[in-house]
Amino acid sequence: MDKLVIEGGYPLQGEITVSGSKNGALPILLSCMLIPEEVTLAGVPELRDIQTTCHLLQLLGCHVERTPEGMTVRAGNGLQHAAPYDLVRTMRASVLCLGPLLARLGRAKVALPGGCAIGSRPVDLHLSSLEKMGARFEISGGDINGRCERLRGAHISFDFPTVGGTENLLMASVLAEGETILENAAREPEIQDLADFLNSCGAKIQGQGTSLIKIQGVSSLHACRYTVLPDRIEAGTYLAAAAITNGSLTIRNCPLWAMDAVIFKLQEMGVNIEAGQDKTRTVVKPGGDIQGIDVTTQPYPGFPTDMQAQFMALMSVAQGAGMIKETIFENRFMHAQELMRLGARIKISGNTAFIRGGQELTGATVMASDLRASASLVLAGLAAGGTTTIRRIYHLDRGYENMEDKLSRVGARIRREKE
Ligand code: UD1
Repeated sequence: MDKLVIEGGYPLQGEITVSGSKNGALPILLSCMLIPEEVTLAGVPELRDIQTTCHLLQLLGCHVERTPEGMTVRAGNGLQHAAPYDLVRTMRASVLCLGPLLARLGRAKVALPGGCAIGSRPVDLHLSSLEKMGARFEISGGDINGRCERLRGAHISFDFPTVGGTENLLMASVLAEGETILENAAREPEIQDLADFLNSCGAKIQGQGTSLIKIQGVSSLHACRYTVLPDRIEAGTYLAAAAITNGSLTIRNCPLWAMDAVIFKLQEMGVNIEAGQDKTRTVVKPGGDIQGIDVTTQPYPGFPTDMQAQFMALMSVAQGAGMIKETIFENRFMHAQELMRLGARIKISGNTAFIRGGQELTGATVMASDLRASASLVLAGLAAGGTTTIRRIYHLDRGYENMEDKLSRVGARIRREKE
C-alpha cells in the first residue's frame, strides 16, 4: 500500500492543468453500453475508478481501449446482464449500469453498491423511478435483479435531486418508448455533459442543466466523438492548495462556469482569483490573511459536498471562526479527526462542524478515510510545518490524476512511498 509524505510550508508557484472530470466520465463511459457502435471519448482521466469502470464494461461484454485519440468503447450486440460483486463493491457508481442494461437487454443484475464510507447512501430513488418506467426489481443475495420489457416513458418527480438517480434515468429513458419527464432532476454540470454526449449520439434530451428534463425515446443511438468536461472538484482543490500555502497558481482548463459557489466562497475568504483574459487560465494570488466563513453544502448550483473537506482544511488555518454544515451526506466529517491530529481545532455537532481558525498546523501521520477527505489532508499537509505522512492514499488514486506529480511541479515537497 502507498503513502504520501509531505514536507509542508512551501508556497505553490506555477501552472497546473486540470484533468477531465471523474464524475463526468463515469456515467458517460457506462452509457456507452447503449450504443452498439464504437464511441471515442477524449479527456477521460487515468484514475482507479475509471480503470474499475473499464474493467466492468469489459466484463459486461464491451471492447474498451485507450488510444492516442482517447478512450474507445464498443458495446456491440453481445452485452452480458450481470455486474460482478467484486467490482461493484469498490465503486458506488457501478449502480449506473442498471439504466443502460435494462434499456438494452431488459435485464440487469448489479450488486448493491459500496464505495466511499460516507453514510448509508441508498439507491431507492433509482429503483422506484425505474419501476415507473416498467422495470421490476427483486433484491436477493445482496444483488439487485431487474427485469423489464421495453422501458416506457414516464413522468418522474424525484423526492431529492439525486445525481446518480438522474443519470440512471437519463440513460434508461433515451431508448424508451415515448416521452420521459424528470422533475426535480439534479442540475450538476456532469449531468448536462452526459445529456450532451447522448444527444451527440442521436438522443433527444432537452432541459439538461435545469431541474426539468424531457427525453423523447429513440429506437437506437449511433457512434460519436466527445470530450469529457474538466473536473471542477479537482480544479477547486488546486485553487484551495494555492490559497492554503499562500501561493500563486495559474490553473489551466479550469471550468469556472461550473464553479460559482466555490469561487464566491474562496473570494469571501479573501482569496484573490482572476479569470485569465483568454478564459483558459484562472489565476490565484495571495490576498493577505484568509478569513473563516460559513458554508452549507447543497445540490448544484449550491456549494458542492465534494469540496467540503478541502474547505475545512482551509478554514483551520484561516483567521477567525468558520462553520460547515453538511446537508447531502451523513457521516462525512471523518477528516475532522485527522485534521485535528495536525493541530486543527474543530468541533462537530450533528451535521455541523465549527472550526476555530488561526492554528499553526504541524506535521503528523494521518489516515485517509475517503476520496475528498484525502484531498483535505494533502492540503493541510502542504500548509503544516514539518512532515505529514498520509496513509491509505488508495482513496486519493480513485479521484485525482497524478496529484503528487502535479503538485511537485509547482513546488510542493511531496512524494509517494511504499508502506
Ligand atoms: C454523486 C457524486 C459524488 C457527489 C454526490 C453529491 C458521482 C460518481 N458521485 O454521488 O461525488 O458527492 O453526487 O453531489 O458522480 N440518496 C438516496 N436515495 C437514492 C439516491 C441518493 O437517499 O436513491 C441520497 C444519498 O444517500 C445521499 C444523497 O441522496 O445522501 C445524494 O446522493 P446522490 O446525489 O445520488 O449522489 P451520488 O450520485 O451517489
